[in-house]
Amino acid sequence: MSKHYLIKEAAEILNISTNKIRFYEKKGLIKPLRDEENGYRYFTENELIKLQTILMYRELNLSIEGIKDIFEDGSKDNMLNHFHAQWEAINNQIHKMQLIQYSLEEIMDSIYESEDESYKEKIISIIELMHKTWKVKSEWKDKWNFNSWARTYDESVVKDIGTLKFYKKYDMLLDTVFKKAVAGRERSINVLEIGVGTGNLAARFLDEKYNIIGIDQSRDMLNVAKEKFSDLKLRLGDFLKIPFENHKFDVIVSTYAFHHLTEKEKVIAIEEMLRVLKPDGRIVIGDLMFESELDKENMLKSLTKAEVEEIEDEYYSIIEFLIEYFKKHNKRLEMTKIDELVFIVEVN
Ligand SMILES: C[S@@+](CC[C@H](N)C(=O)[O-])C[C@H]1O[C@@H](n2cnc3c(N)ncnc32)[C@H](O)[C@@H]1O
Repeated sequence: MSKHYLIKEAAEILNISTNKIRFYEKKGLIKPLRDEENGYRYFTENELIKLQTILMYRELNLSIEGIKDIFEDGSKDNMLNHFHAQWEAINNQIHKMQLIQYSLEEIMDSIYESEDESYKEKIISIIELMHKTWKVKSEWKDKWNFNSWARTYDESVVKDIGTLKFYKKYDMLLDTVFKKAVAGRERSINVLEIGVGTGNLAARFLDEKYNIIGIDQSRDMLNVAKEKFSDLKLRLGDFLKIPFENHKFDVIVSTYAFHHLTEKEKVIAIEEMLRVLKPDGRIVIGDLMFESELDKENMLKSLTKAEVEEIEDEYYSIIEFLIEYFKKHNKRLEMTKIDELVFIVEVN
């Protein structure tokens, strides 16, 4: 018979209070045996391991309900879901805290630098801006439901149904983004792909042995990408809260993803990309775009109602606006036309 421990012994071994053990029992996470005669709890080695696992998962801030579900379900997928959700929650907190920290820095500077009472108004405007920025960063929603598209995405790229033929030059676009991204760079560069989808662009980098990590807001897209390319490093993450530290990447690439951001969101996504990019880094985006507002107006006039609706369901970039946004950060943008609505913009 395997060894059994009393609650006091279990608490000593794990260096926790007996109350904590009783709490986990009350929540249904553990089920110690009971002595039939005296009612004492007895813990098997397995129950101790379970308790230790609970303690470790709590260190990752996993909720009691989450841990219970991991134990009950037992599958790898379910476990991954919980860890992904926790990763997302932690990333949100980091971004929120960072925004508060930057705002406090600005506030302190304005108090130091002001020679009159004007800093009081400045504080209010800094906090208002912080509030607006967080609203944009936290309210993005996947209204297209990419999770449901993940399993059929590659097939639909090939079929390219619809009259606008967005994917006609898909392979050429991906090849050109890859070439532009790596031109003149060492093979040891760190590359980030945003909106990695099923991994078709990342595969070009993997094939040539570049370090690439892909993020996507859709877990199912990530699952498909991982099934196709087991070596590909992937994380859940979005344009507006990139889950990496400042100045980590030499190159950022993205295809067919940026047009899911509104104009306001694009401005913040650009700040985010520049935050994680090294100062001499490069951004290469291949996507659906118009060169100018005027071009957009003219083009929409020439299309059918259904085609216009299809375009207006998303937010194609206006390249002349992108040029201005990047110029504010002292970055220069060059564009290459691939097809009627498909462009590559390279930012250096
Ligand atoms: C049309 S697919 C393109 C996939 C892939 N890049 C390609 O070129 O085949 C768009 C992808 O961008 C992702 N995406 C859309 N908006 C995003 C956002 N705000 N942040 C991160 N990924 C996003 C979607 O989940 C989806 O996987």
